[in-house]
Amino acid sequence: HTRVLTGITTTGTPHLGNYVGAIRPAILASRDPEVDAFYFMADYHALIKSDDPDRVEASRLKITATFLAAGLDPNVATFYRQSDIPEVPELMWLLTCVTSKGLLNRAHAYKAAVDRNIEAQEDADAGVTAGLYMYPVLMAADILAFNANKVPVGRDQIQHIEMARDIAQRFNHTYGREFFVMPEALIEEQVATLPGLDGRKMSKSYDNTIPLFEGGPKGLREAIMKIVTDSRAPGEPKDTEDSALFTIFQAFASPAETTAFADALHNGIGWGEAKQVLFERIEAEVAPMRERYDALMARPDDMEDILLAGAAKARAIAAPLLETLRDAVGLRSAR
Ligand code: TYM
Repeated sequence: HTRVLTGITTTGTPHLGNYVGAIRPAILASRDPEVDAFYFMADYHALIKSDDPDRVEASRLKITATFLAAGLDPNVATFYRQSDIPEVPELMWLLTCVTSKGLLNRAHAYKAAVDRNIEAQEDADAGVTAGLYMYPVLMAADILAFNANKVPVGRDQIQHIEMARDIAQRFNHTYGREFFVMPEALIEEQVATLPGLDGRKMSKSYDNTIPLFEGGPKGLREAIMKIVTDSRAPGEPKDTEDSALFTIFQAFASPAETTAFADALHNGIGWGEAKQVLFERIEAEVAPMRERYDALMARPDDMEDILLAGAAKARAIAAPLLETLRDAVGLRSAR
């Protein structure tokens, strides 16, 4: 069996990028009988980005409801909250002690923060918490606590998976055994980076997201109408290259539908009409899920029960591994 694992940070409202980049492929993978799937709310990661407890909690509920509404079966996948697994932060410490500081210096998110500071002529590490710095080690612990083989993520997370491999290798080498398998990123080539309203990567940080469910069909349509396009008038042929609108369409359509849409653009369909076509395509996929989402959001206690049951399943796997690791590093002796 292949172990597939992925997490979503609980700081925001799920958007189309999370859905096509992570949630949809994760759910598809979980339906493969050869796959053991592990999906979780990365709420420890959320604390790196947000010190607003209400926001972290609200986001956790929304992301939990999104996975379930999009079709995740918690009896098939192991579906849990990161902070219910004490083995994760414990493993993080064991990994921290074999991780070179130089590796973490190279992490994109940390480097970006330092570059911004230098640009602003501030102290290089101004405002950088140790949490941000350690982010890749926490993520490595998420993956390695379950010895996941495949990690479906968007392109922005590839470096973190590479670091998890480096850290796993270092631990195996230091303690002389193959405790960890090498995880691999799983990227859906077609939709590796879904663009947002302005054409940059769709991201909470750029404020360019299209929410998956929030706002209903009206909100979805309004957001789609805001996707930036060039100024070509109806009747003028449109490019599909570098068009955020086209790229998003592609992520929601079959190859045949995509070809038909490309033809319509080349033949000069107006942008307004193209946006309406895009709206209808996405709405067709999302509408039934939105109904389930609203029902779930009205019953947070049910979701809590599901997450706690998932945590018990997850710990049954992580706990024995941690026993082995404690022994291996000399903290406890099972001998
Ligand atoms: P996060 O919460 O930023 O994003 C969740 C997932 O959504 C993907 N994603 C996108 N994919 C395509 N296009 C986009 N515009 C887009 N925006 C976001 C991300 O690549 C990610 O797969 N550190 C992770 C969470 C995490 C994790 C883990 C993932 C914590 N531990 C262990 C895998 C394994 C994060 O912040 O993702």
